[in-house]
Amino acid sequence: MQTYLIESDQGIDAIERRETAEPEPGPFEVKVRIRAASLNYRDLGVAAGGYLRNDTRPVVPLSDGAGEVVAVGPGVTRWKENDRVSPIFVRDWIDGPASDAKLKSSLGGGVDGVLCEYRVLPEQSLVAIPDGMSFAQAATVPCAAVTAWHALFESGELQAGQTVLLLGTGGVSVFALQLAKAAGARTIITSSSDQKLEQAQSLGADQLVNYKAHPDWHKEVRRLTAGEGVDHVVEVGGPGTLERSIKSAAVAGKIHLIGVLDSPAAKISPMLSVFNLLTIRGIYVGSRTMHEKTLAAMDANAIEPVIDRSFSFDQALEAYRYFAQQKHVGKVVIEF
Ligand SMILES: NC(=O)c1ccc[n+]([C@@H]2O[C@H](COP(=O)([O-])OP(=O)(O)OC[C@H]3O[C@@H](n4cnc5c(N)ncnc54)[C@H](OP(=O)(O)O)[C@@H]3O)[C@@H](O)[C@H]2O)c1
Repeated sequence: MQTYLIESDQGIDAIERRETAEPEPGPFEVKVRIRAASLNYRDLGVAAGGYLRNDTRPVVPLSDGAGEVVAVGPGVTRWKENDRVSPIFVRDWIDGPASDAKLKSSLGGGVDGVLCEYRVLPEQSLVAIPDGMSFAQAATVPCAAVTAWHALFESGELQAGQTVLLLGTGGVSVFALQLAKAAGARTIITSSSDQKLEQAQSLGADQLVNYKAHPDWHKEVRRLTAGEGVDHVVEVGGPGTLERSIKSAAVAGKIHLIGVLDSPAAKISPMLSVFNLLTIRGIYVGSRTMHEKTLAAMDANAIEPVIDRSFSFDQALEAYRYFAQQKHVGKVVIEF
């Protein structure tokens, strides 16, 4: 079978394509023919090396995929041939709290991922794809959508009528926008581009802030909330944006700390979070149970993932390069 492999820390250009033996399922394992995959910002970090718990080498890249069951090993009860399934991001995190050992089993970094024609996985580490969802759509969910779900609903306990701030129009932020709207929240989204903001508005964003035109965007956020601030910030920017996120939050607001897109070495003052009784909490993707709930919520609310562009398996490295330019809104997928 054809597979891509990361063998060094030299970034996208060093990802190799190889012919390898097809894997066969052992006891309680399932062989999945991968039909689609999607890219996450993390995949750039994994290729560049030094990503916490994600520096196994060689490793098959990409965590997010979807496909069909083509064989099952002895003892498998959850799946049969032709079932449409998607692997979970953290292979061994089924339910309950995370642990260091579980987090080391993240696909496409800690253990092999899905940028290959066939993948064998434990039967427990797969979820069923809802009937109305395509392979490409299902492949956008495991990392970005589950993270957004975990932040807003598992950790954030988002209530209808609350205000949610989304930073940028990447995968996590767009899913968080769609899920927050479905839950009856008011949404404010920032972006580098007016064109992307228009697209966010068509997806239901209530208020828009161009953070290039307004470098002090927290002031706009406070203005748009009559000085109160927001109840939730889906914080994907990291140290470069965190202080402005803190300044955007209402008293007792929640900041869901998810990623680093901007100035990793920036210094921030956390004191306002004390005086405003903020909750600032790290979020790392989620368990199989959270993945299942995310899919159920998307299905029930007819939420369609926003797919910016689709590439073929042969064009996988082109997909990486396009994704790295940050021209996309939502997700970039690879269809096999
Ligand atoms: N903790 C977790 O479990 C978890 C899970 C998924 C992702 N993440 C992290 O979350 C972040 C986003 O991931 P993703 O896959 O959604 O990324 P993505 O799709 O690559 O999103 C990139 C977009 O972010 C926006 N952006 C870039 N710099 C920004 C800034 N300074 N302020 C506001 N927006 C900015 C840009 O959109 P505009 O042009 O619209 O501004 C850009 O196109 C990454 O750091 C990723 O590693 C963490």
